[in-house]
Amino acid sequence: MRSPRQQTAARRTAVLSRRAVLATVPVALAALVAAAGPAAAGTNGSSGVGDPYFPLAGNGGYHVRHYGLTLHYDTGTRKLRGKAVLTARATQRLARFDLDFKGLDVTGLTVDGNAAGFSRNGQELLVTPRHALRDGQDFKVTVTYQGTPKSVTDPDGSADGWIRTDDGAFVAGEPQGAMTWFPANNHPRDKSSYDITVTVPQGRTAVSNGVLLGQSTAHGETTFRWRQSEPMAAYLATATVGKFKVERYTTRDGIQVYNAVDSRESSAAAPVLKKLPSVLDWESKVFGPYPFRAAGSIVDHAHSVGYALETQSRPVYDRAPDLSTLVHENAHQWFGDSVSLTTWKDIWLNEGFATYAEWLYSEQHGGDSAQKTFDGLYARPASNSLWAFPPGNPGSGAHIFDTPVYDRGAMALHELRRAVGDFTFFRILRAWAAEHRDGHGTTDRFVKLAERESGKDLHTLFNTWLYQPGKPGRS
Ligand code: TRP
Ligand code: ZN
Repeated sequence: MRSPRQQTAARRTAVLSRRAVLATVPVALAALVAAAGPAAAGTNGSSGVGDPYFPLAGNGGYHVRHYGLTLHYDTGTRKLRGKAVLTARATQRLARFDLDFKGLDVTGLTVDGNAAGFSRNGQELLVTPRHALRDGQDFKVTVTYQGTPKSVTDPDGSADGWIRTDDGAFVAGEPQGAMTWFPANNHPRDKSSYDITVTVPQGRTAVSNGVLLGQSTAHGETTFRWRQSEPMAAYLATATVGKFKVERYTTRDGIQVYNAVDSRESSAAAPVLKKLPSVLDWESKVFGPYPFRAAGSIVDHAHSVGYALETQSRPVYDRAPDLSTLVHENAHQWFGDSVSLTTWKDIWLNEGFATYAEWLYSEQHGGDSAQKTFDGLYARPASNSLWAFPPGNPGSGAHIFDTPVYDRGAMALHELRRAVGDFTFFRILRAWAAEHRDGHGTTDRFVKLAERESGKDLHTLFNTWLYQPGKPGRS
């Protein structure tokens, strides 16, 4: 049986070619850019962080410490108005820097309160502050914008970003879509805290990440104020809008749960969401303490999306999830959200781990053992798409959500477990989550950690399961 998430992972659609559109720089702004003075080469922040799968994702030269987003979404006209205040720190001298922002019109842009020059080039918003920023300087960028948000098409053909629904929007940004609704340093290498305030027509609910600070209604509109205080990658931000039934409670561990469910999904969702506290409790025992102060679920009715996303602290589902999808998305809170990728090539660190969490959950709740799941997959012939490429090397952004990343990635972890034994294996999982909490991981660091915890040379095992093309032979 395939969950919606797995359907998408296996789904292949034509790759749409996207051409960068060079926007004309308004004359007055061009003058400002010119007035910025001698912008010596080498003082411009780069247009990407250097991720080979998404060369324009993120930007060089600064780190965003905090995003303050104030949004207004009219579900009737589909227009979004926004103000983004980015509190950032320069990591080099910057005469100019980029933000990732696609589509919406920029109506104003200041750096430390001074009007700044800007131009658009595809997903790059180029900003020239009136005064160059010093290396180490803290600065504040304020961008006001408006328009009708449009999702982006990913290299694998799926849509992400701000995706309109019949009653609002399904908002999920992996790997690229954050830039469709706010200007960002759009790569998981940069993590920040967020305050996200969203105003929608009365009767709609806007659900975002972290804790709900408050909500208020005036003049037929309701404003929701959300705070994500632990660091978050931009792709994990959401501001999903719809007609939702809301349920709130606090778990025995003091985690604030907020579930929002589209009523068309509520009868299917209810029995699964009821298990959220026990799933989080089980995952906390296996992976270590839950990394955030808030949790929950956003169950939308958006079947055309075809996937769920582990939006931080509160996954968003395009339909009522089944139990293994609930386990999967919440396992990502440890693996993917708290411990973030450094490069998209390492995507198995997210998907292999979350898939293995499903296998473990099944094993410990009366279902198939992980060994049985492994054996069932291993029985697939060498021609099966499971063996199309090794999970540590998907080859391009078009394959990061394909079956080998999920299933063979999980198989790699199972092989590790067999090699080091249960006691050491679970210690490795917990050490990984603890040592990189609110931070980043890489495959190399995971292998080193596993070798350190086990005292074993695991090079051949990982090389076979993560990097060797084709179906691995029996060990
Ligand atoms: N990371 C999601 C999950 O495994 C899946 C996902 C997010 C996805 N964005 C996607 C799958 C785009 C395909 C295309 O739960
Ligand atoms: Zn996943």
